[in-house]
Amino acid sequence: MSEEKVLILDFGSQYTQLIARRIRESKVYCEIHPYILSSEAIRGKSPQGIVLSGGPASVYDKGAPKVEEQLFHLGIPVLGICYGMQLMASLLGGDVVPSKEREYGEAQLEIVESRHIFAGLEEGRSYRVWMSHGDRVEKLPPGFMTMACSPNSPIAAMGEPARALFGLQFHPEVVHTEIGGQILRNFLFHICQCHETWDMRSFVEASIERIKAQVGEERVICALSGGVDSSVVAALVHKAIGDKLTCIFVDNGFLRNGEAQEILDIFRDSLHLDLRFVDARKDFLNSLRGVEDPEQKRKVIGGLFITIFEREAEKLGKVGFLVQGTLYPDVIESVSFKGPSATIKSHHNVGGLPERMRLKVIEPLRELFKDEVRRAGEELGLPDWIVHRQPFPGPGLAVRVIGEVTEGRLEILRKADAIVQEEITKAGLYREVWQAFAVLLPIRTVGVMGDERTYEHVLALRVVSSLDGMTADWVRLPYELLTKIANRIINEVKGVNRVVYDISSKPPSTIEWE
Ligand code: XMP
Repeated sequence: MSEEKVLILDFGSQYTQLIARRIRESKVYCEIHPYILSSEAIRGKSPQGIVLSGGPASVYDKGAPKVEEQLFHLGIPVLGICYGMQLMASLLGGDVVPSKEREYGEAQLEIVESRHIFAGLEEGRSYRVWMSHGDRVEKLPPGFMTMACSPNSPIAAMGEPARALFGLQFHPEVVHTEIGGQILRNFLFHICQCHETWDMRSFVEASIERIKAQVGEERVICALSGGVDSSVVAALVHKAIGDKLTCIFVDNGFLRNGEAQEILDIFRDSLHLDLRFVDARKDFLNSLRGVEDPEQKRKVIGGLFITIFEREAEKLGKVGFLVQGTLYPDVIESVSFKGPSATIKSHHNVGGLPERMRLKVIEPLRELFKDEVRRAGEELGLPDWIVHRQPFPGPGLAVRVIGEVTEGRLEILRKADAIVQEEITKAGLYREVWQAFAVLLPIRTVGVMGDERTYEHVLALRVVSSLDGMTADWVRLPYELLTKIANRIINEVKGVNRVVYDISSKPPSTIEWE
């Protein structure tokens, strides 16, 4: 693993993860920590540099989040962004005041000092940047100089090059800041003297060594679902320890058309994983008989999955570790708003299993963002259709058959879903959209086919764009494509005579209907 790292201290900005993504895109490893990390702990991590994120607070608020002033005396370069800059200014003896004119959105930044973080930019020239602040630095801390200004912020960037402390009032991490990449690279490579050490090849190689050392001679199990995360983690661990890894793949009967076979083909036949296939389709369907409530459905499916998984694992004899495909966004102890904490939907996963089964956990992907997981999958030679799959819920099609799940209704949905997948892929949109799928509704409506009256099922199409599944918008698909999908479903899927398009965003709706 890369030894060099940059730490991002989070003050709750919606852009904190974006800062991390940008830094990693520059091939420098970085970690996000809550702002309360002590200077001692920071020193212990020996970072090459520190970034203070933005945040919603004002430095002069009572109880405003702060770092220890000591942080600026560790000899480690610091870049403060927005709130981070204001905090730096106020802790080091400058003044921060509410702006007379708040700046939200685009602003013109004039470079006053084209060196250090602004190296390579033109002095006196204006560049388009993205601002989002209600406060501004009014007076520089002693020793600092103004490096850029904007119409509403006479001090839009400041720095004290001798101590490698810099502050930006604007957000270099968002795409609207055209010089953002250049500024971050200047900070990383010139000021922090980082090297390009973070790439997926070295990540995969280092992970393999780490997994080997951690596991020793013990047996490891993994629940394989065929989704991106479990597929990549299984391929990675298999590469490290070969047959000491056993994957358990449970077919719950709620998979897509042909999916179970495709997963077997890849993992068992091509990659030669020790894969135990459990055909539990009947058990799942039986356990859902008469169940209509969405939460009840999710709980029944999750509970049965755990029972089956445990039973299979017991057959293997002594097992030491469980592999999980946990990703970085789940690990970050961020102070950012992470969505409502009330349970909106129970998620079907293997949470709680390690304690019950007394297993140690390995989470080789816990440092990665989703796009990095995909690149690791490519590095490991997984096929494109696995690496770039759209998310699919653990309870699968069962939460897309609204109301009671029966074999017949599942079959209708499976056929319609296959058409949606095919047409979205043919239109070149599969990777563009976050998810595209069909939902079978529990009502029937009247139609006419030939001269006959029909009274059949309604299907809803759901196609959404999203960055992380937390919020989403419906995709404005071309009318021709909508027409084609609807026509094909009505003509080819017996039992459906109407297709509707879901035009709700999340919030207030959710992506899945149940
Ligand atoms: P919602 O419906 O809550 O979904 O807006 C957000 C994202 O999560 C996916 N999803 C799940 N993923 N297990 C999963 O691994 C689940 O039980 C589950 N339920 C929903 C959903 O497809 C969307 O991408």
